Amino acid sequence: MAAIAITGIAELVTGDPTLGTGPLGVLEDAALVIETDDDAASAGGLPAPGGPAPVAGDGVTGPRGRIVWVGRGRVTPAADARIDVAGACVLPGFVDSHTHLVFAGDRSAEFAARMSGQSYDGGGIAVTVAATREASTRVLRERLRAFVAEARAQGTTTVEVKSGYGLDVANEVRSLQLAAEVTPEVTFLGAHVVPPEFAGRADAYVDLVRGPMLRACAPHARWVDVFCEPAAAAAFDGEQARAVLQAGARAGLGLRVHGNQLGNGPGAQLAVELGAASVDHCTYLSDEDVMALAGSDTVATLLPGVEFSTRSPYPDARRLLDAGVTVALSTDCNPGTSFTSSMPLCIALAVREMGMSVDEAIQAATTGGAAALRREDVGHLGVGARADLAVLDAPNRMHLAYRPGVPLARTLEWGEHAAG
Ligand code: NIG
Ligand code: FE
Repeated sequence: MAAIAITGIAELVTGDPTLGTGPLGVLEDAALVIETDDDAASAGGLPAPGGPAPVAGDGVTGPRGRIVWVGRGRVTPAADARIDVAGACVLPGFVDSHTHLVFAGDRSAEFAARMSGQSYDGGGIAVTVAATREASTRVLRERLRAFVAEARAQGTTTVEVKSGYGLDVANEVRSLQLAAEVTPEVTFLGAHVVPPEFAGRADAYVDLVRGPMLRACAPHARWVDVFCEPAAAAAFDGEQARAVLQAGARAGLGLRVHGNQLGNGPGAQLAVELGAASVDHCTYLSDEDVMALAGSDTVATLLPGVEFSTRSPYPDARRLLDAGVTVALSTDCNPGTSFTSSMPLCIALAVREMGMSVDEAIQAATTGGAAALRREDVGHLGVGARADLAVLDAPNRMHLAYRPGVPLARTLEWGEHAAG
């Protein structure tokens, strides 16, 4: 254990309104003190049952510690070591609460076809399922780790990872075990689509998912998710989604829903009814959906990379925020609809295309993501929070959207300072 002071912070976004100005609790000329924690087994907050503990300094979790002091730079307490960020802006590391990073294959041709006018209907998922089943575990692991490193290099410190490109018992278990190597936020998405060998027998596939597949997968996951989208031929309707989610809840998993992506549907209200932590996409919502979300603890997670990559209308974040819904922003990084690991890109798109202010988008990408994962230890920099820090090579947070596409954000690593 060592205390490290982070000094020279021109603008500190604490994410805690009691610590500074506005809803983001912003402090100028600030400093932080963190206490490092090299015990890998105790890190990560919510370890995946049965999964290996994340390795210190590896994957998205990075070096670990806790915030022990936050305040003005001129009264920084003594510490064992100091890192001077020389006038940068520091924020809570981004919380990317929705990704599909265990997969093989490439669907750039599908993207090109969409840019020439084709629409997205989920049919390409089967292409990734075939490639993922064929891939070696070594290749899947290497790719997963590379994507996680890519996210980390852009300021993401917490990432959720779903299965959903295995779609048989062995391949779903393999995907979850790999995901658990990099994060405790592991989601079983056996109900992504009906795989080709079950074509025309969706109910039989749902029985497999909520029966033997769930039994094999639940020990490796924290969450269960379902693609509830009656408009997509291979996805699931409201009753099928309900059956999967209820079985997942009985197995002790928290609930998440892919819903309302391609058209209006039952996903959002089902998520609220069953107490899901989040319903993700929310591109098409009725007034009743918005009202139901506003009166619930279910977060609406918006995924602007999807609308960008499928050339679809963006969701109306303003409508959700004005109604009082908790909104999260996430990449949905996957080879079909959103092959980006960049939370800064999602923030910029949300500001430019979805009616969010820069502060609202930052909040959605930090505390919003934490709420979507029901985590209190990430997404803010109050005393006791994980010392997961994003640093912007810019004097203030506006540059995240003001300088789109410029690699300003990174995570703060302190490996060499922690030896004390
Ligand atoms: O979140 N919509 C469903 N699932 C993914 C896309 C999967 C794919 O096309 O490979 C999503 O957008
Ligand atoms: Fe998704």
